[in-house]
Amino acid sequence: MNTTESIKEDQSFSMPRIGDKAPEFAAVTTQGNINYPSDYKGKWSILFSHPADFTPVCTSEFMTFAHLEEKFEKANCSLIGLSIDGLYSHIAWLRTIKDKIEFNGMKNIEVKFPLIEDISMEVAKKYGMIQPGESKTQAVRAVFFVDPNEVVRAIIYYPLSLGRNFDELYRALIAMQTSDKFNVATPADWNPGDDVIVSPAGSCGVAEERMSSTEGLDCKDWFFCTKKLDKNLVLNEILEK
Ligand code: BEZ
Repeated sequence: MNTTESIKEDQSFSMPRIGDKAPEFAAVTTQGNINYPSDYKGKWSILFSHPADFTPVCTSEFMTFAHLEEKFEKANCSLIGLSIDGLYSHIAWLRTIKDKIEFNGMKNIEVKFPLIEDISMEVAKKYGMIQPGESKTQAVRAVFFVDPNEVVRAIIYYPLSLGRNFDELYRALIAMQTSDKFNVATPADWNPGDDVIVSPAGSCGVAEERMSSTEGLDCKDWFFCTKKLDKNLVLNEILEK
């Protein structure tokens, strides 16, 4: 059996699914020890992995996340990073970022959210962050959105060479929070202020009613009805004042 096959066979590699309880772990981080997800109960969190310290794409991503951290916190969401490197490497890398790196108009960027050391790959294996076809020793760029009840709500994976789109990560977070708060779904490319989708008709009667309703519904057909949802209402409900 070659290494890739043996990693694929390794039962310690798992892959949480949407709707699963987020797998638990204790970890050492650049901000002290954490117990995940219990330390974040009552909040959303984004657990994301990256391949290695002192690499350019990762550096650009870390700077961007650190720059946006306050914005995510205002949406009740904490950030937690992970890479298959040791604590001292993490500390040295984050110091270098603050002292030396300028990117996209950002400089002097201090990463204040925890960066997990995972030299043993224990956490990365639990979260399916090692994808042997891409790399056997580095984590791919995985993003797990975990809700206040510790449930995995969305998962996005990117390959090593592709930096993440942070507008999309924020949009996805706000869209899921909007779905929860207002019991609606969000269509393609939705942003606050855009129309939302009301839950599908569950009976012929409701389908009929929907099509003849004049109460703020815009039905393109019986299964596809949208309604207005005020941007300020969404943002006032979701963002901390
Ligand atoms: C990077 O972050 O630049 C990177 C890391 C691993 C492979 C390729 C790129």
